[in-house]
Amino acid sequence: MGFGRGKVILLGEHAVVHGCPAIAVGIERGVTAEAATAERDLLRLSPWDLALQPDPKGDEPLERAFAAALALYPARPPLEVRAQVDLPAGAGLGCSAAIGVAVLDAIDEALGIERVRADLATAALAWEKVFHGNPSGIDNTMSAIGGVALYRRGDVLRPLHSNKPLHLVIGYSGEPSSTKEMVASVSRQLDSDPERVNKAFEGIKVLVRNAKLAIEAGDHIALGQLLDLNHTILCSLMLCTTKIDEMCQAARQAGALGAKMTGAGGGGCMFALAPKHDEALRLRDVLGESSFVAEVSA
Ligand code: PMV
Repeated sequence: MGFGRGKVILLGEHAVVHGCPAIAVGIERGVTAEAATAERDLLRLSPWDLALQPDPKGDEPLERAFAAALALYPARPPLEVRAQVDLPAGAGLGCSAAIGVAVLDAIDEALGIERVRADLATAALAWEKVFHGNPSGIDNTMSAIGGVALYRRGDVLRPLHSNKPLHLVIGYSGEPSSTKEMVASVSRQLDSDPERVNKAFEGIKVLVRNAKLAIEAGDHIALGQLLDLNHTILCSLMLCTTKIDEMCQAARQAGALGAKMTGAGGGGCMFALAPKHDEALRLRDVLGESSFVAEVSA
């Protein structure tokens, strides 16, 4: 069974596209997939009830991404891939990357190809490029490898270690967002007002550096404060919606150590850092029925 995790960017989204470091975690909720030889190439996606053929020029990004994935296997029989998606799409949890990783992992298994997860992550970038134009690579990398890690474009992934697990609660606003559009919006702001946007990136860089230390030291009170500050900077780049901001405030009022939008923004998901498992369960109730708890060990 192929598997691609979802991911949560703890700090540093958007700045990471422009070369700054970010910290992300892989969560155990994601996409599973199976591949088998068939009469023709086909990708089936549940629960969306989609059946797609690969088409490098197709209107549907999944058709183009599937074609890009299959092009990585020049000599192969026709394949049918069945994927089960257990993440909201367009919600900042790296759903498209998780599908890509799971599909490639399943094809590898069906063809008897063995490769390490880091190479699987690299291969899945071909898939991710179809969706996001200029992806930093953080989604496919965290999806394949998991854990907690510091990621910088073009650099090796640096796993972070701590003896204290992170109790995260992920809340979904129900507002779909397009990573491609949000990344393009930040690029436009950078072109028109480089001073303001570069200052925001500099601020995020400092927060990421301190968050790395806080995670390694198990200081989740400091980490929570850094999350709140990163959230504010992302709001200043006009990436946050009223709904997401309200969810963050509700989580803080209910005892979260910090709360923040995650991923591209413009809707999608937020997450809160809880002090303990029990508190995480309580925050999940506050954030509503589409929220869920993710415990991550560094
Ligand atoms: O919203 P997601 O899960 O696609 O995350 C995007 C993260 C960005 O930093 C906004 C873009 C990127 O490629 O890193």
